[in-house]
Amino acid sequence: MIWTTLLLFHGVLIIFWMLSNRSRSKKEPPLDKGVIPWLGHALEFGRDASKFLTRMKLKHGDIFTVRVAGLYVTVLLDPNSYDAVLEDSVTLDFTRYAEVLMRRIFSLSLPNHNASTEKALMRRHFQGEGLTCLNSVMEGNLQALLQSETPQDRENWKRDGLFNFCYSLLFRAGYLTLFGAEQNDRNRDSSAVYQEFRKFDALLTKMARNTLNSEEKGISGSVRQRLWGLLSAALPRGKTEDRWLQNYLRHLREEGVDVETQKRAALLQLWATQGNVGPAAFWLLGFLLTNPEAMSAVKKEFDSLSVLADSPQHLPFDKLQNTPVFDSALSETLRLTAAPFITREVLNNKTLRMADGQEYDIRKGDRMCLFPYISPQMDPEIHQEPEKFKYDRFLNSNGSERRDFYKGGKRLKYYTMPWGAGKNECVGRLFAIGSIKRFLLTVLTQMNLELCDQDSTMPKVNASRYGFGVLQPEGDLEIRYKLRCTL
Ligand code: HEM
Repeated sequence: MIWTTLLLFHGVLIIFWMLSNRSRSKKEPPLDKGVIPWLGHALEFGRDASKFLTRMKLKHGDIFTVRVAGLYVTVLLDPNSYDAVLEDSVTLDFTRYAEVLMRRIFSLSLPNHNASTEKALMRRHFQGEGLTCLNSVMEGNLQALLQSETPQDRENWKRDGLFNFCYSLLFRAGYLTLFGAEQNDRNRDSSAVYQEFRKFDALLTKMARNTLNSEEKGISGSVRQRLWGLLSAALPRGKTEDRWLQNYLRHLREEGVDVETQKRAALLQLWATQGNVGPAAFWLLGFLLTNPEAMSAVKKEFDSLSVLADSPQHLPFDKLQNTPVFDSALSETLRLTAAPFITREVLNNKTLRMADGQEYDIRKGDRMCLFPYISPQMDPEIHQEPEKFKYDRFLNSNGSERRDFYKGGKRLKYYTMPWGAGKNECVGRLFAIGSIKRFLLTVLTQMNLELCDQDSTMPKVNASRYGFGVLQPEGDLEIRYKLRCTL
């Protein structure tokens, strides 16, 4: 027994040593393994990736390789060089890392899945004519949720945290739009899914990093089960209209995917379609409530559009297209709060050529990661006073959209990247923007909504969520609100 234990211990030590023993060759990016064997920088990375990567950038420059839980991740932080990664979808693969996350977060594996058919389906429903249809269903659902209040309810001020207020309303309306065809009680059913989803969302980053403790594992498992149950009751049965979810599930069935796996895939889609929109709306409305000048500029723009219809809630989407002030305020919000990692798996050894002509060897089996939040989004060379919300940062003095931003004297192609870029740029971008715009228009024209404390300031961000899309706050802004009588 003692010999077996000793042998095992030595075996583990040898594996540790082999994994820790990587050294840098001359043409590779600077290598920073950290002091802890195998784990490397995993703890610091998980605590606050933005702070950690900023520290590494100061130490090594715009490209470096760090060890994180046994993996080697090459981080690139020069936006002028991002195309070298984004345009190589052959050596740098999007799907493998996505599959790892699917397994860890959703217990989902789709081995023979045809991702390009799925993407084509999304484009058909979330762009062009399909989008016009989705936008109007979304608008109807937002109105229906507001009108579900009783007349007595409407007379009273209600209090809430702004984050819950925005997330709940947009999530429920979005859920009903995409998943709600078979609901009996739309209000109650969508609220039940929202409540469970928030518990799931709170554990998401730990699920992705495989760092749940045993109690959290129990909670995440049971929340997932409840969500699968709630979603399967809502999934369309039989032959129904030409809707995205129906077509997506049919596509899975044709690939031979069983019913259990379809439920899991539905939860993945719920997260992909609803996980970022509510938090983005929170930051936008929060910045407007704490910046009166920005709020009055956006209101003025909405007022000028409202004359195009008998009431603002009936403004058709084509009349809502030309909103440069809103667009700039949203871009500025996302510049400050959208912080996804753009991660790719390195399938073969590769030489990466930077914009300054410098070349680096990247090893097969490593990961490449762009983190546009640090640069371009928070880069003081590109955006002056980057930590400040300036609603007109993306406006020219003549009111048109500003697109000229520079780094190192070079005009940038990527000066903010909340939606990713290249082949894997967000397919739902226009639907997300349309939903947030309609939500804001609804709140500003049909509700009285104010901060409980007029001197409140924006809460800090939850630093553990860097890398996972739109950030979430640590704390909240307390608001009070009621519907206007004209509804
Ligand atoms: C504020 C809201 C949203 C933000 C900030 C956001 C952000 C992003 C980003 C950064 C990516 C690229 C990931 C990468 O390259 O590694 C992405 C991809 C994607 N997004 Fe979004 N997204 C949002 C809302 C939505 C919505 C509403 C939908 C669906 C209706 C959606 C569907 C997708 C899909 C399907 C992809 C993968 C594209 C592919 O496979 O190539 N997103 N999103």
